[in-house]
Amino acid sequence: MKMFNYVTAPQENIEFVEIAPVSEIPEGQRLFVEVGDRPVVVFNIAGKYFAIGDICTHDDGPLGDGTLEGDRVVCPRHGGEFDVRTGKAVQMPAVVDIPAYPVRIEGGYLHLGIPRDR
Ligand code: FES
Repeated sequence: MKMFNYVTAPQENIEFVEIAPVSEIPEGQRLFVEVGDRPVVVFNIAGKYFAIGDICTHDDGPLGDGTLEGDRVVCPRHGGEFDVRTGKAVQMPAVVDIPAYPVRIEGGYLHLGIPRDR
């Protein structure tokens, strides 16, 4: 199974792009962004930021609209679950991981790390 966890990918392969001021994502909130052709949702969970792909790998459900249960997001379409830290599919019917992207804060702005070889 192909992995898409860019959080742990070699950082020389990652390019960071500015996406929003940190003030746009208060604690407990989420932000939807499109980086290139990548739909991404960024969660602020207790002051930590996690970015994952917004489209469920099971059947293209709007994953970013799902409820959070701890470190997991539950797909609103069929209840598949993913770990927001790694993108790992952890609950059926989802079996294929989603991308997880590293997030940095620089100068009050969130920066999202995406792979260079797009
Ligand atoms: S589309 Fe997400 S679990 Fe089916």
